[in-house]
Amino acid sequence: MVYVMRKIHILRAFFLVLPKLACVAPLQFALWQCIAVLHGLSFAILTPATQLFFERATALATGHADMASVMAALLCLAAAHVVMQILNGICNFIPMMYTQKAHGVFSAALFQKINRLTPIQWENTRVLDDINKALKGEQESIYFTNTILMLLTFYLPYFLFMALYLWRCKPLLVISLLLVFLPTLLTQLLRTKLFAKAEDASAPVRRELEYAESCIAGREFFKETRTLGAFGYFRDLFQSSASLLNRLQMRASVRADLAELGMKLLSLVGYAGILLLLLDALLANEISVGAFAAIFNSVAQMFSMMREIICSHFGSVAGTYGRVQNYLAFMQAEAPERPALQFNSGDIVADHISFTYPQATQPAICDVSLTIHAGETVALVGENGSGKSTLARLLLGLYEPEHGRIERGPSSSSAVFQQYQRYQMTLRDNITISDFCAPAEDDKLELVSRRAGLDVYGRSFPAGLDTMLSREFDGVDLSGGQWQRVAIARGLFRNHELIVLDEPTAAIDPIEETQVYNRFAQMAKDKTALIITHRLGSVRLADRILVMQQGRLVQQGTHESLMAAGGEYARLYAAQEQWYESNS
Ligand SMILES: Nc1ncnc2c1ncn2[C@@H]1O[C@H](COP(=O)(O)OP(=O)(O)O)[C@@H](O)[C@H]1O
Ligand SMILES: [Mg+2]
Repeated sequence: MVYVMRKIHILRAFFLVLPKLACVAPLQFALWQCIAVLHGLSFAILTPATQLFFERATALATGHADMASVMAALLCLAAAHVVMQILNGICNFIPMMYTQKAHGVFSAALFQKINRLTPIQWENTRVLDDINKALKGEQESIYFTNTILMLLTFYLPYFLFMALYLWRCKPLLVISLLLVFLPTLLTQLLRTKLFAKAEDASAPVRRELEYAESCIAGREFFKETRTLGAFGYFRDLFQSSASLLNRLQMRASVRADLAELGMKLLSLVGYAGILLLLLDALLANEISVGAFAAIFNSVAQMFSMMREIICSHFGSVAGTYGRVQNYLAFMQAEAPERPALQFNSGDIVADHISFTYPQATQPAICDVSLTIHAGETVALVGENGSGKSTLARLLLGLYEPEHGRIERGPSSSSAVFQQYQRYQMTLRDNITISDFCAPAEDDKLELVSRRAGLDVYGRSFPAGLDTMLSREFDGVDLSGGQWQRVAIARGLFRNHELIVLDEPTAAIDPIEETQVYNRFAQMAKDKTALIITHRLGSVRLADRILVMQQGRLVQQGTHESLMAAGGEYARLYAAQEQWYESNS
């Protein structure tokens, strides 16, 4: 059930994201792609337009054309430039808008997927990692797909058109494209290699430098550094690594400059090759002077287009590919089957259930059988780590047992957990968020607040129920104990037949805990309630006490019967007795 990262081929990744991207706004998407193709062609069309203009101009000089036809050609050339600029503007604008919109849609889908994870998956650190990676890869997947799309809809039409044009002038001229491509590719490979080498050498030195700096200037280090008189040592370390880093970086810049020079030389060779081809064709009368001039003119453009593709677009596709894979693997992972929960609207029955956490070696719950009757208030006690919370989550249906069977009683349940949320919202929203469907009159909110031990008209809440509980949003902050009471009020507000309180009282002292539990037990009279605690001062109010030890249910009964029986409960009670004596 843990999802396993799969490798996804780069083209498959592209074709997986593409339809989703297209579906964000299909019409706009189609329009954008058409404009991209036109944009690519508009660059290419400049070459034949230039050719036409030069041909007419030379014809005018030899008296074979009139001025009007030259002006017409000039107008065509100018129009091609204007159209190209306009398309260029549109092509910069649309992807920006579209990417924003797609980001919203993609995030929503990702959040849906995260929301479908089962509670047990949240216990798995690998799944948490996967969520993190998927969040990072989501936006990258849009850039990744956009870049490949641009290669296909902008650059490909451009180079196809140029290839066709050169072919028509003279088939051998198509080799020019190769003369553009190879030098650019080679110099890029050279550069990458040189930079990687320089980075490999300087990374450890930079870390050393940063460490020396933190030992001298960092808040945590400075006391000891100063006290021990280690300042001189770190200063020397800093200076020596700084000068080493300088030397390395000098060497790297020299190499980068050499690489740059090499790139220009290689490009020059390519350039020269194309010119020779052109000159040869011109002298053999295979192409016109106009075609010669037009192609000559566009060589620089082809080089710069090729450099864009190889230096920036290939790099960005390769750089984002890994994170895009993470995102796609997460989105494609199948949700584990969740059997429909069985409710009988009566007793809760667990029949020999066992449960082991993912990545754990020992079972957290081992062969537990119990029945909780409808309307009963049951306390679950035991040392930390004895399996109380795990058992509660099983009974609530958050986890499925590995072995055994659970019959869930009432279908509506509420819970207050050990780790509760501090929502940065108003007190009202903090309470009603547990059940948005329930009617939320002030009377009811005041009642559950009072039962949770909160005085909504006290000093802590200047605006009553509408007090904003967040310093960041211009509100008030609460103490740990008050936040716990808010969490309890939230649990009580939710419409429920069964309620579980899983030690939400750690920040409240034992005496007050007893009061909270007492109020709670009174109002839970007609409901099924499970109170979990490792402090035994508050459990006498329960109808029955269940005692857990190392994942097993070892005892059950009333306080008196358990005390009389000796064993785990009596041991726990003896260990805690002095708390209550000294406090009361
Ligand atoms: N998410 C988890 N992953 C692995 N082991 C866990 C996880 N949560 C709890 N455990 C282990 O399961 C056992 C029972 O834990 P828990 O039910 O939280 O005990 P209690 O609520 O009684 O303190 C402990 O040994 C604990 O270490
Ligand atoms: Mg617990």
